[in-house]
Amino acid sequence: MTKIAPSILSADFACLGQEIRSIETADYLHFDVMDGLFVPNISIGIPVLESVRKITDMTLDVHLMIDRPHRYVERFADAGADLVVFHLEADAQEDIRPALRAVRARGKRAGLAVKPATPAEDLIPYLSELDLALVMTVEPGFGGQRFMEDMLPKVELLRKTVDREGLPCEIEVDGGVNPATAALCRAAGADVLVAGSDVFRAADRAARIAQLRGETA
Ligand code: DX5
Ligand code: ZN
Repeated sequence: MTKIAPSILSADFACLGQEIRSIETADYLHFDVMDGLFVPNISIGIPVLESVRKITDMTLDVHLMIDRPHRYVERFADAGADLVVFHLEADAQEDIRPALRAVRARGKRAGLAVKPATPAEDLIPYLSELDLALVMTVEPGFGGQRFMEDMLPKVELLRKTVDREGLPCEIEVDGGVNPATAALCRAAGADVLVAGSDVFRAADRAARIAQLRGETA
């Protein structure tokens, strides 16, 4: 079944505990970290992750949109991330594998993300060391943007490769997911759908999560 990962970037941070309670029927909690360098926005970081870890048992899916993430992956793992996902474009090639291994050495799952301009092929050499591959379906940096349909072939290619090689790597999409685009992502073979504004704007968030999974029309 497709997993849903609400992004707390769209939550009200003044009452974050309550906001998290409201989406606990989802599968992962997506935690967007932005440094104002890799992306033109600044969000939340380690102290907030530590606080969130204390109040929920949800799987914490930490999406690092930061420059040279190998410097920080262990600290996010230790702060309570279950999954640490960072951008392929953000680090020197020789730092990628050691960073993935450092996450896994801490007993956490490791993932790599690609921005819209980066081909999915660039992820393929790393797939055997990944627990998750993230295809951005908007330019990273902000919630509430329009889904880029032309990213779907990247999802299809990763799906085919992972299945052919029998790898345990999940495929996640992030950006512009709503009930209509969620259906396209599921059809393309995505395992995990991140949804920020669509879930947090919904009057009935649990119902919206079920709808994004494809359980209801
Ligand atoms: C964008 C973030 C996303 C964002 C998604 O840079 O990585 O996780 O919160 O927001 P929506 O679902 O509103 O596009
Ligand atoms: Zn994200």
